[in-house]
Amino acid sequence: MPVITCIEDLKRLHRKRTPKMFYDYAESGSYSEQTFRENTSDFADIRLRQRVAVDMSGRSTATQMIGQDVAMPVALAPVGLTGMQRADGEIKAARAAAKFGVPFTLSTMSICSIEDVAEHSGAPFWFQIYTLNDDTFNRNVLNRAKAAGCSALVITVDLQILGQRHKDLKNGLTAPPKFTLPVLMDLATKWQWGLEMLGTKRRFFGNIVGHVEGVSDPSSLSTWTAEKFDPTLNWDKIKKLMDMWGGKVILKGILDVEDAEMAASVGADAIVVSNHGGRQLDGALSSIRMLPSIVEAVGSKTEVWLDSGIRSGQDVLKAMALGAKGTMIGRAYINGLGAMGEPGVTRALEVIQKELDISMALCGEKRVQDLGRDNVLLPKGFLDTYA
Ligand SMILES: Cc1cc2nc3c(=O)[nH]c(=O)nc-3n(C[C@H](O)[C@H](O)[C@H](O)COP(=O)(O)O)c2cc1C
Repeated sequence: MPVITCIEDLKRLHRKRTPKMFYDYAESGSYSEQTFRENTSDFADIRLRQRVAVDMSGRSTATQMIGQDVAMPVALAPVGLTGMQRADGEIKAARAAAKFGVPFTLSTMSICSIEDVAEHSGAPFWFQIYTLNDDTFNRNVLNRAKAAGCSALVITVDLQILGQRHKDLKNGLTAPPKFTLPVLMDLATKWQWGLEMLGTKRRFFGNIVGHVEGVSDPSSLSTWTAEKFDPTLNWDKIKKLMDMWGGKVILKGILDVEDAEMAASVGADAIVVSNHGGRQLDGALSSIRMLPSIVEAVGSKTEVWLDSGIRSGQDVLKAMALGAKGTMIGRAYINGLGAMGEPGVTRALEVIQKELDISMALCGEKRVQDLGRDNVLLPKGFLDTYA
């Protein structure tokens, strides 16, 4: 096994071992990718405050997210098409998360179905739903998630319409891929991926194909999804979906104080300050820049988490220091999966936990719950550059 010291190592292997169209699908943002880039560069602008001669024995990264014990405040975010990064990808990621003791979120747009993941992953997971204008689908899929023992619902609220990613159009992204000449030439160098794919039946959108009337193959699926994202979404509809679920709910994709206040008022157990990893509104501010004002506004009413741009344990530390009670990671674990399958996801989690633990120690803290504004140094104007 190659020596993996950081998420960047996994990313390099992911790129080498995964078909270009799926690597590009993960590693891109919408339009000019400004928000995608700033999600990481804004983290890099924040510095940590070193402390010395502080007892650093008996440290722990363990905490809780919506009352659930977690080995560290990091959940695996919902990522569509994970089963195309590696055969049976959702099952592999869910297993790695369960063994590590962090939550896994299954996307509506997954390749492995809810039932498949429940059967093979060995621990309750969270289910993510898009706000679709099809009550029958919503009800059925929520019933399936309940029957599979999903312990929380993540409602993604920032995708009523799909942001454009240039590379996906240029690569002709489909699941499974269509065998054009460039795709075949690319696959010739990704033989391990191909062999594993030949060995699985899970190659279509498992939560949708066969579960929705009129959608029996991928081409009818693309028409269905284009029609079903709900352009008329409002807070009443979100509340209705929350009531339909009746359990714990996380609202993901909040990037504005007013929206955070609405999310808290409808009773979300947690909100995720997120710009969808820079894949939706290009030109929006990074999540880490928006976090402090949102924590200030609603942090006492609901748990505020953050995703978008986390590539290290130091980033998790910075988010916690600025008031997040938890985080989610997308690409960091997808890099691990694409690089090495289940062991790669485990490695990604180990890397992040170790970085978090060591950095916390060098900041003079023993518990993630104790991290606060004192642990970071912000560049002048970081919080009010934009108004
Ligand atoms: C390839 C890819 C697919 C995604 N698919 C979904 C999805 O199906 N549902 C969803 O709510 N978010 C989706 N997201 C957004 C992630 O849940 C998360 O918000 C984002 O990845 C966080 O940013 P990061 O990748 O920088 O950690 C996706 C992100 C990526 C990179």
